[in-house]
This record gives sequence, structure tokens and C-alpha cells, in this order.
Amino acid sequence: MITEDKKKQLDLENKKITNNIHKIKHRIVVFSGKGGVGKTTVSVNLAYGLHIHGYKTGILDADITGPDIPKMTGIQGELHSDGNKIIAQESHGVKVVSMANILPPDQAVIWRGPLRSKMLNQFLGDVEWGNLDYLVADLPPGTGDEILTMTQNMKPDMAIIVTTPQELSLIDSARAISMAKKMEIPKIALIENMSGLICPKCGHRIELFGIGGGKKQAEEMNISFLGAIPINLEARKLADEGKPVILENEEADISVTIFHIVKEIENMFNENTKASMS
Ligand SMILES: Nc1ncnc2c1ncn2[C@@H]1O[C@H](COP(=O)(O)OP(=O)(O)OP(=O)(O)O)[C@@H](O)[C@H]1O
Ligand SMILES: [Mg+2]
Repeated sequence: MITEDKKKQLDLENKKITNNIHKIKHRIVVFSGKGGVGKTTVSVNLAYGLHIHGYKTGILDADITGPDIPKMTGIQGELHSDGNKIIAQESHGVKVVSMANILPPDQAVIWRGPLRSKMLNQFLGDVEWGNLDYLVADLPPGTGDEILTMTQNMKPDMAIIVTTPQELSLIDSARAISMAKKMEIPKIALIENMSGLICPKCGHRIELFGIGGGKKQAEEMNISFLGAIPINLEARKLADEGKPVILENEEADISVTIFHIVKEIENMFNENTKASMS
């Protein structure tokens, strides 16, 4: 049973979150049923794609036990607070907050769901995000506690589900789509990642995980399809070096697709003009 004191504390926490995220125009959660399908890759490059298009953007690393955003954006050092609010770190103009910048490197986070959710609430309520156009949250795989907390408390206006074209991933992404529908997220869209690989030597296309399953699933489940991102070896190498491919090589096939996805998102939000840079 929930005590009166606990209820007051929860109300206060919710109010704080509501006031803080009120300044963020669009909130996007990126999740998937299956792990390792490219959520973090999509979150990072999408955030930088939006930034390049002139939007004030932040990334919230909502993967508390496997926080990969700092590794992929090259952010180092510790998160600081000004005594009142947590100050988001910044990498190439995009604000970032991650558990990885709170704990010493290599330290495992062995926390049960409620504690992980508490941390996420702090990321939502206590971080000085400022007036952002877009906040992209990179979630852990599955449909567990973190996804519930983020979809309830961040109040996203868009959910992006990432899948590979492989049957195994599609079965799990169907669950993630159902969850997004149950949580009544206003816009739900699918991205197919790892959608074919062009051999850099001979130009032949290798369909490593198959192709086209994402588009078909989006049609069947009546959600938007944002695009099919190819496997790109340079992107993988750059990610390991903390450099988002979209910043390093705008012409790469993967970057071109992500810019196309950014345009689709702009259209979905009717953002016909570039964001104000004020
Ligand atoms: N389109 C792509 N081309 C090349 N490499 C990719 C692509 N997408 C993802 N990768 C690589 O695949 C690996 C897994 O990707 P990523 O970490 O983004 O997946 P994830 O869904 O966030 O994983 P987790 O479920 O563990 O959080 C990473 O090494 C990443 O660099
Ligand atoms: Mg990840």
C-alpha cells in the first residue's frame, strides 16, 4: 500500500518532471524488442542529423545498465551539478546525459527496476535540458521497467522502434510496437536497421539479415515506416572511436538514409521551417 508521504513525494517528483520537460518541444523514445539491433546507433545519428538540420537537440541515455551513448559520442568526464540542477554534457552541440558519466568506468550497475526508474526520473526532472527542440531517449532492449517509466513520465510524442529485417527481431519488434500502442504514444514509427551491406570491394549487395521485413511489418501494424538503414562498415568503426558517422561523412549511404529519416520526422511534426537558433 502506498503511504500518504510516499504519495506526496511521487506527486512532487511528477510535478518537477512535468515542469522540466515542458521546455522540450518534441520527445522521442527509441526502443526495440531485441537487443543489439542498433538503437544507440540510430539515436546518436538521428540526434546529430536533427542538430545539423538546425534543431536544438539532446540525447538521454535511458540504458542505465548498458549506457553506450558516451562511447559512441566520445563524451568523457563526469556529470556535474550546480547544486540545484544536473548540467548536461555536450558533444558537438548536442546535449548528453548518461549513467556512464556518473559511475567510474567498468563499474557494473546492479540495480533492480525501481532504482533504475528513479535514476531515469532524475534525468527527466533534475537535468537542465534547456529549451530543446528534440530530446531523443535511447532505451534498453525489451519492454521492461525503463520503457514503462520513460513512456509514462517523459510523455513522448513519438516512439521509434528499431528492428533488423530478421524474423527473430521482427517478432520482438511487434511486441514493442504493441507496447507503444498500449502506452498511447501519439506517433509510432519503425526503422529497419542493418538492412543489407554493400561490399566495399565489389559493390555487391549482401542481405545479411534479409531485407524489407520492417516495411512490411509497419504496413501490417499500421504504423509509419521511416526508412531502411544499411550496414556500413565505416559507421561501425567510427562508432567505436566515438565519432557519429553522420558528422564525419555526410555522403555515406547510412548518413543519406538518416537525413531522409530526419526529413520524414520533420514532416510528421509539420516542421516545415528550420528551428529557431535563438
Ligand atoms: N547500420 C549499421 N552499420 C554498421 N554497424 C552498425 C549499424 N547499426 C549498428 N551497428 C553496430 O552494431 C553494434 C550494435 O549496435 P547498437 O549498440 O547501436 O545496438 P543497440 O540496439 O543499442 O544494442 P543494445 O540492445 O545492447 O543497447 C554496434 O557495434 C554498432 O556500431
Ligand atoms: Mg544500446
